[in-house]
Amino acid sequence: MTPHINAAKGDIAEIVLMPGDPYRAKWAAENFLTKPRLINQVRGMLGFTGLYKDTEITVHGSGMGMPSLSIYVNELIREYDAKTLIRIGSCGGMQKHVKIRDIILAQTASSTQTPSSAIFRELNFAPCADFDLLSAAAEASKKKKSKIHIGGIYSSDVFYDERPDLNEQMVRHGILGVEMEAAELYNLAARHGCKALAVLTVSDHLQTGEALSPEDRQNSFGDMVEIALEAATALG
Ligand code: HPA
Repeated sequence: MTPHINAAKGDIAEIVLMPGDPYRAKWAAENFLTKPRLINQVRGMLGFTGLYKDTEITVHGSGMGMPSLSIYVNELIREYDAKTLIRIGSCGGMQKHVKIRDIILAQTASSTQTPSSAIFRELNFAPCADFDLLSAAAEASKKKKSKIHIGGIYSSDVFYDERPDLNEQMVRHGILGVEMEAAELYNLAARHGCKALAVLTVSDHLQTGEALSPEDRQNSFGDMVEIALEAATALG
């Protein structure tokens, strides 16, 4: 047990899928895993473990933002021996060719700062996805209807951003989308010798102002979950 997860040690799999929203964890577990069982609900942060094609998988919420994700990922890695962590979440599209409902595989995650900034100090560490997971996800994406983009994303600390110039610089440098968690996931995976990837559905667009309605989200979210599951289990 940890301060934020009251699961028994063997109740959490080596592969953990992490949506920001605890209810999306419930939805993914109920729709994509067989025999899902609730393994955590401290502070309403739901976690489930079940089977995907005979492989044990945990789906656990991360909460919103890097400080929240850092708590859960630290505890999952340090206390529960998680080895492969895949964020499944939404992001804001930043490039014109990246459309609503498209899926982004985040090769790198830029940021102004992360919870690890105090450790890195003057270092400008480059958080990146695990290459094997990224290529397995790219392979799994070929079978999906969703359009896939692979490239850099921006992990921001603010949803209601009052520095639009930061987004402008990210757009200018080809960054595909903005979300709030992946950079710290990649930092922690690097520090602890784990594999990490973020698979993101574009739920709104910074250039066009478009946004997915809640009903519209389901299909592309399903493709995202399947890509994450296929990638994680392909590595064996
Ligand atoms: N900004 C930050 N995080 C997000 C966004 C956004 O526009 N959309 C979905 N997650």
